[in-house]
Amino acid sequence: MTDDRDVDANRLASESLAEDDPTGWFERLYAEAAAGGATVPWDRDEPNALLVEWAERQALDVTGERALVVGSGLGRDAEYVAGLGFRTTAFDISPTAVRGARERFPDSEVDYVVADLLDPPAEWAGAFDLVVESITVQSMPLSVRAEVIVNVARTVAPGGRLVVISGIREEGEQVDGPPWPLTRSELDSFAVHGLRAARVEQVPHPGDPGALRWRAEFRRPRPEGGRSA
Ligand SMILES: C[S@@+](CC[C@H](N)C(=O)[O-])C[C@H]1O[C@@H](n2cnc3c(N)ncnc32)[C@H](O)[C@@H]1O
Repeated sequence: MTDDRDVDANRLASESLAEDDPTGWFERLYAEAAAGGATVPWDRDEPNALLVEWAERQALDVTGERALVVGSGLGRDAEYVAGLGFRTTAFDISPTAVRGARERFPDSEVDYVVADLLDPPAEWAGAFDLVVESITVQSMPLSVRAEVIVNVARTVAPGGRLVVISGIREEGEQVDGPPWPLTRSELDSFAVHGLRAARVEQVPHPGDPGALRWRAEFRRPRPEGGRSA
């Protein structure tokens, strides 16, 4: 992170990580921002363009389908997903972010909840037809990477799909995060709990077309005899 918008996040992340707390800085950042004293660098006015582009090329038939937005922050992507017709749950570890999303979208149909990807509710296992993970896994240290990837994958229902959007890191490359972008092998490791990679792309970063991001779609086929996604 080098942009001016990243200054507050960098400061709070350094303090939190020095205390061996991989996620405490998010709540501190959102709380400072709510008080007008900090900038949330990923807060945008529009949904993620890479998510929109992905959705627009699908023939989505979402009647009655459920979606989960991981690390939903202030809610732009969750609102977009709900607008596609999904019954949408969106979660974040930061209570201030969850409150902020509800306040920003007072008429929202999204169910915004506080939850921790390191300890997600058991009833979310296999419950969602669409799961959107955009740059949340990469915001947590490598020490918890395998665990959070499995926890994301576990939420996808039979017949469902997972979209992952992330920065790119070379195999073996050392980075001083956050973020700690995903290597190809880390991306491939979402293919657990019956998930299979359907499409893996490197696409231009919407805010910086000179840089690339992963955008990957995983599908979890229904058991033999079931309706396919
Ligand atoms: C880098 S931001 C990305 C926000 C959003 N997904 C986006 O694409 O703009 C990471 C988000 O994940 C949340 N987060 C971090 N660790 C989390 C965890 N363990 N469980 C749930 N949310 C978490 C943070 O509070 C923050 O809102």
